Amino acid sequence: MIQKFEKVNKIKGELRLPGDKSISHRSVMFASMAEGKSLIKNCSNSADVNSTIECFKKLGALIEKKGELLIVNGAGSRNFKEPPSELYAGNSGTTARLITGILAAQNFKTVITGDESLSKRPMKRIIEPLSRMGAAIEASDTGTLPITIYPSDNLHAIEYELKVPSAQVKSAVILAALHLEQTTVIYEPVPTRNHTEIMLGLETELYKNGKKIYASAINYPEPFEMTVPSDISTAAFFIALTLLVPGSELVIKNVSLNETRTGILAVLKMMGANILIENEASENGEKTGDIRILSSDLVNTEISEEIIPNIIDEIPILSVAGVFAEGNFRINHAKELRYKESDRIAALCSNYKKLGLDVEEFEDGFEVGGNIKNNHVLFESYGDHRIAMAFAVMSMALERGGSVNEFESVAVSNPDFLKQLNEIVA
Ligand code: S3P
Repeated sequence: MIQKFEKVNKIKGELRLPGDKSISHRSVMFASMAEGKSLIKNCSNSADVNSTIECFKKLGALIEKKGELLIVNGAGSRNFKEPPSELYAGNSGTTARLITGILAAQNFKTVITGDESLSKRPMKRIIEPLSRMGAAIEASDTGTLPITIYPSDNLHAIEYELKVPSAQVKSAVILAALHLEQTTVIYEPVPTRNHTEIMLGLETELYKNGKKIYASAINYPEPFEMTVPSDISTAAFFIALTLLVPGSELVIKNVSLNETRTGILAVLKMMGANILIENEASENGEKTGDIRILSSDLVNTEISEEIIPNIIDEIPILSVAGVFAEGNFRINHAKELRYKESDRIAALCSNYKKLGLDVEEFEDGFEVGGNIKNNHVLFESYGDHRIAMAFAVMSMALERGGSVNEFESVAVSNPDFLKQLNEIVA
């Protein structure tokens, strides 16, 4: 579906957004693992989290939606049952990678499949540490889905240094470790999102410039109740739009402000964004707050290597803000972008070229600058939700608007994007 956007004159009002996708995935997984009833409020209504829900239903967890509430009756340690068919992770890397850690410790065989995009994404990064733990996992020659996980009688704790700064790899190892009496120690040299550690109450310790994380069966989840704070990665699109449309002001309520995720706010503030945090609080160990945004004149800034994992999902929309900011927008050390739902470096560069901008593509990033020359462009989303939403925002900031193809892909993280937009376009 091609979605057309006109230039927006003003953004005004207040938004409440669905629950953070990373926290929602984990809440469904941990509740399904725990023995007994958990209650989750404001769980993400994304297609990705639905993939996680469907996988755990097949494994024997009872999961029911009652209005705002997700009620999960979990199976308990090693009480999952062999699914009647393969587990389909859809477009969701978090589902496929984290669930593999759990399945590595079960006494039955499972096959994980995904859609076309997910079937191209690297799985060796989790297979390698899990195999070192004694897991029996088979992937295609290219190290991609489908993967088959066999029961192993030799699963054991390891000491492991993360080779890719990836919260998904870290979490896959932690989830396997929860099934073992001995302690697994993970060393993370570069910080990545820490929701798994917070939600499971894991012991962590500063080590060199990074962190050591300890996980074993004593951390196996118990039933819980929680309200998932709103998703800062979803909020980022509305933050950028408000900054770019003159005379605008928006408040986004109760957003997750976990500091492994707020890099986007830090970079935008360095670019001169007028962003205020109000009503700070904490929910199950996760920081939250309201974000007030006022339109601002932005100036591009240097983006440091250390902050990349923190802003990895926000780089598409950050670069849109950068195109309207003074100076060139440049990002490096971000090769991981090539392994997301699309090759996001290639996707961003090709769309910026459509606008007649000067674009230089690097293996690990790109630089964009110059003047917009072309009117009303049809942007290519590559079926990637974050590319679709980034160019929706771009279109709404352009004099002649713009269109985005395969726009239905936004449902992967935020099916209500257009509805939320209608609430705040004045
Ligand atoms: C996620 C971690 C990130 C992020 C993804 C969600 C998670 O991936 O890009 O959208 O929930 O753990 P990597 O950790 O693999 O970079």
